Amino acid sequence: MRKAMTLAIWMAFVYCSIFTLVEGTPPNVTPPNVRALDDGLALTPPMGWYPWNTFGQEPQNEKLIKEMVDALVSTRMREVGYLYIGPDEGICFYRASDGKLTTNLERYPSGLRGLGDYIHKRGLKYALYTDAGTHTCSKAMPGTKGHEFEDMRQFADWRCDYVKIDWCNTEGQDVVKAYTLLHEAQRAAGRPIVHSLCSWGEGSPWKWAAAVGHLWRTTGDICEPGRADWQSAMEIVFANEKLFEYAGPSHWNDPDMMIIGMPGLRAAQNRSLFSLWCMMASPLIAGNDLRSMSKSTLQILTNLEAIGVNQDPLGIQGHIIRRNGQISIWAGKRLFDGSQAVLVFNQKSSSADVRLLWSDIGIADTAGLYVRDLWKHETTGPHADGISVTVPPNDVAFLRISKSREFPLPPIISADTYLVSLQATSTTPQTLSATVVIHNQGSVKLPLWRVREGLPPWLSVTVARNGKSQILTNRISTAGLRKGFYHAVVRLDNTEPVSGRPMSAIYYDVDLEVPNDVGDSSK
Ligand code: GLA
Repeated sequence: MRKAMTLAIWMAFVYCSIFTLVEGTPPNVTPPNVRALDDGLALTPPMGWYPWNTFGQEPQNEKLIKEMVDALVSTRMREVGYLYIGPDEGICFYRASDGKLTTNLERYPSGLRGLGDYIHKRGLKYALYTDAGTHTCSKAMPGTKGHEFEDMRQFADWRCDYVKIDWCNTEGQDVVKAYTLLHEAQRAAGRPIVHSLCSWGEGSPWKWAAAVGHLWRTTGDICEPGRADWQSAMEIVFANEKLFEYAGPSHWNDPDMMIIGMPGLRAAQNRSLFSLWCMMASPLIAGNDLRSMSKSTLQILTNLEAIGVNQDPLGIQGHIIRRNGQISIWAGKRLFDGSQAVLVFNQKSSSADVRLLWSDIGIADTAGLYVRDLWKHETTGPHADGISVTVPPNDVAFLRISKSREFPLPPIISADTYLVSLQATSTTPQTLSATVVIHNQGSVKLPLWRVREGLPPWLSVTVARNGKSQILTNRISTAGLRKGFYHAVVRLDNTEPVSGRPMSAIYYDVDLEVPNDVGDSSK
């Protein structure tokens, strides 16, 4: 009876609405005069792991970060795209008397460069943390104010790929000017780095930050370290949702690191949070203890069908098209194959029956459509007009809707390493070689990347495609090189856009050590 009433109320609500959504909501509206960055970074939302939500400041140290790196690899989270990892406000450096940022070797004995190498060798990318003010939030670390150019150079020397820039202790600073200066400093330092702005929405970064960064926090912290907070997560979700028009490839709204898998949340809540983050094209930065997570948490965090929605190359942030009390219907997220993602979120403590009409989600023709349930991994249909779903308490129905029975997954890329390291072993010229292998967990063909020009004369890189992988062969000629250390950053751009949108550029480091002068083969 209660079920029938809920259904009737919903149908009335749906039918009475005058809202119509047209297929293909205009995506990626950046405000006039704001141009997103063209470094090819973060063309899909960044994914990774950061320590803050679970660990706070203690016990962040090298051992902890390395254990999480190993967990990303052993759980295969790396394979499904979790890439960026490193200390948050983990007391990892201080400012020495000469003004230089210097590793806190007590906590990070390999040095911050050593930690970066460890991360890169395992096919992951290196994330660090700083602050735009005088100090970080706890004041345990220096901020960049007045040292922007030296600090960004130091981050580049540590081979950092991603930096979260906090907004504590910034009294009297202008938020736009401060983050713009840091972006200029990063450009001057020369290393491509994802800039994650963390002003908690202060200064409305969605209006200007696409020109100086790749993602920006839209709200305050999602929780106190160690304490998952469902209520706070809900407030953040509904604040972040409103900003959907500002997100797009290389410029994302960031509702904070995820709390999935932290103590105190049930599986349904974890599933809901992950679906919401995927639907909002939010950065997927896990914040739980990866060493001890349950099977259910791992299954949620690695659900490829949900990740495929998040990593869709069109980069559209879905939004609410209907909300009736504690039930919301999310749509507006067209995907690369022409299908649409739809989410029904039930915040109630009882289950809900919801009738979803195709016309309601902006699909004008009411021909039968196929429905893929992204949690049950089942396809049904064709369904004429719409479908009915029953959503358990605090849970979701996360669906893809298509005219076709096929639900392809976009490319989901990982690499076996981001650091090629070679050493000359002879004083006569040699050709040394090593590969970087790119894998694709998506179901569509792996698109092709091409090497950017501008490599040093001692290095050449060729690209070969082989089924689901792409092999980047690095050949080093030592002829005529003097004793010393050589370094290059290789950039490859995606030349086969998926539905008109390129995938993120691939960057990696090549190191060469030449212990003794090498003769020139031409002589
Ligand atoms: C701020 C950020 C958090 C975390 C802490 C570290 O509160 O929003 O994500 O980085 O600082 O102190």
